[in-house]
Amino acid sequence: MQPDPAPRWDGELDAADPSGLRRALGSFATGVTVITTLADGGRPVGVTASSFNTVSLDPPLILWSLSRQSPNLDAFRSGSHFAVNVLADGQLELCNRFGRPGPDKFAGLVTQPGAGGAPLLAGAVAQFECQREAVYPGGDHLILIGRVLRYRWNSRNPLLFCQGRLGPAPQPAPIPEAALAG
Ligand SMILES: Cc1cc2nc3c(=O)[nH]c(=O)nc-3n(C[C@H](O)[C@H](O)[C@H](O)COP(=O)(O)O)c2cc1C
Repeated sequence: MQPDPAPRWDGELDAADPSGLRRALGSFATGVTVITTLADGGRPVGVTASSFNTVSLDPPLILWSLSRQSPNLDAFRSGSHFAVNVLADGQLELCNRFGRPGPDKFAGLVTQPGAGGAPLLAGAVAQFECQREAVYPGGDHLILIGRVLRYRWNSRNPLLFCQGRLGPAPQPAPIPEAALAG
């Protein structure tokens, strides 16, 4: 199918408009993670983050960005390790729980200690235990690079985030038989 030669946009704005920019960036579908670490004194902390992405396979590096407004900024900036928990489609409650400030986000949760003690959440689709490799300034966020020390995954359906909505990943379309025949 040919692309529309004169596409109609729902919004076309100056980059200085943060709400429009957020909506345009939200067209890029992502998974959802809860990223955890231990704060001073061993208190577990975690935030919902969709900014997780790959950087490098060799060495194994990943990145995510954390708002400078986060009360957990110091814990992540100075913590030696963090854990990335990729949420499954049945974990919307965890997405919401870690997606807002709270005094004890871990109340009643089953966790295991990952590298450096960073909590691993039960029921995730994948987990990446990371050593903090670097922290870079990124405007109103900090960019955190992690070196993956250990990881695991399963075939649960992941939770997706797109256009401000959360939901299960659609089942992938089957590959046409003709494509397999060649
Ligand atoms: C789906 C989703 C994705 C999010 N992605 C990020 C992100 O990548 N980085 C970030 O700093 N905040 C992100 N947030 C917002 C934080 O989860 C939210 O600000 C939360 O309050 C952070 O925890 P804290 O206040 O305890 O630090 C996201 C929230 C949701 C619901």
